[in-house]
Amino acid sequence: MSPLGRPWSLSLIFLLGMGMAPEGINCPSRCSCQYLEVNCTGQHLQEFPVDIPLDTRQLILAANNISYLPAVELSFLADLVYLDCRKNLLGDDLDFTFIGVAKLAYLDLSFNNLTQVTFSTFSHLLSLVVLKISDNPNLVAIEKDAFSNNTWLRHLDVSRTGLTFLDTSTVQDLPNLRLLGLSENLWHCNCSFLDFITWMTESNVHFPDADNITCYTPAGLRALRMPAAEAQLHFSCLTQLSKQDYVFLCLVGFCIFLAGTMAAWLAGICAVIYEVHTSKGEEEEEEEEEEEEDTIKTRTFRGPGSHWFLLSSPLHR
Ligand SMILES: *[C@@H]1O[C@H](CO)[C@@H](O)[C@H](O)[C@H]1NC(C)=O
Ligand SMILES: *[C@@H]1O[C@H](CO)[C@@H](O)[C@H](O)[C@H]1NC(C)=O
Ligand SMILES: *[C@@H]1O[C@H](CO)[C@@H](O)[C@H](O)[C@H]1NC(C)=O
Ligand SMILES: *[C@@H]1O[C@H](CO)[C@@H](O)[C@H](O)[C@H]1NC(C)=O
Ligand SMILES: *[C@@H]1O[C@H](CO)[C@@H](O)[C@H](O)[C@H]1NC(C)=O
Ligand SMILES: *[C@@H]1O[C@H](CO)[C@@H](O)[C@H](O)[C@H]1NC(C)=O
Repeated sequence: MSPLGRPWSLSLIFLLGMGMAPEGINCPSRCSCQYLEVNCTGQHLQEFPVDIPLDTRQLILAANNISYLPAVELSFLADLVYLDCRKNLLGDDLDFTFIGVAKLAYLDLSFNNLTQVTFSTFSHLLSLVVLKISDNPNLVAIEKDAFSNNTWLRHLDVSRTGLTFLDTSTVQDLPNLRLLGLSENLWHCNCSFLDFITWMTESNVHFPDADNITCYTPAGLRALRMPAAEAQLHFSCLTQLSKQDYVFLCLVGFCIFLAGTMAAWLAGICAVIYEVHTSKGEEEEEEEEEEEEDTIKTRTFRGPGSHWFLLSSPLHR
């Protein structure tokens, strides 16, 4: 063995390695690969591409016909930071899909067919900063705690979805939220939504396209923008009572009625007892008085002339 053998083979391996990377030996077909980036935009893909380099940081699958993201194959891309799946057919159930891509910071799922977002959909994406789920017309429900693990979330877009209602607690505890897209949804402005509108006016989050954030139901508030709707809702929610309030008021009324009846009844009994007692005393007194009168009468009858004479005689003198 020559002393030069070892360094020579090492540099050969090094050269081979250098030569292989830019060639993109394992770049998926119909995709273009650059340094840590795979771009498969608009290639009519029906399925998630195989053979994506494992060190990929940025994966672009926009404008294809992909209807399913395999969680296991995604989880091989442990360094993935940026995933763009806009304009595909992703639907129904994305729960636990992103379980293995914990470094993901940017996720675009707009223009798909999502139907719901639960806690399990994005709960493993602890580094998520940008989430776009706008333009999913069948997206009708977002669970209250859907983003509770996404504490770094800065940009969230739910515009042009099937959402009619969003609970304030879904977004109000996100400490880094700066932008929230809400426009062109058919918002249902009931008294629960008043909470949300109040949060909107008080938070320092930016709401793009604010002119198109309007109520759809009830009919009386249709097309009303959010700050204007707040004033209206304040008025109607404070004056109109809910069913619960009516039940409560009825109960209170009944209690007052019952208490009143009881009090009247007790007062009546007391009055009767008092009357009976006092009338007994009066009768006794009356009897005594009558006795006295009798004695006086009998005395005056005994000697009427002499008494009268004795009393009146000094005045006439
Ligand atoms: C991906 O490729 C498409 C066309 O193939 C191009 O328009 C787009 O800019 C590329 N995206 C990035 C991030 O390079
Ligand atoms: C998706 O598939 C439909 C038919 O299945 C086709 O009409 C459409 O052009 C496809 N879109 C893309 C972006 O491949
Ligand atoms: C979208 O999802 C709904 C409900 O799951 C389904 O009925 C519909 O066919 C889907 N649309 C597309 C284009 O896949
Ligand atoms: C949500 O976050 C908590 C605390 O950061 C963590 O313990 C929990 O595992 C996370 N849940 C999921 C499903 O990742
Ligand atoms: C308002 O509407 C939402 C969704 O339709 C519903 O969950 C909520 O209970 C409603 N609140 C009231 C006070 O009616
Ligand atoms: C509001 O929505 C309408 C209809 O969708 C659209 O034409 C308009 O450009 C939107 N306004 C803004 C400020 O984007």
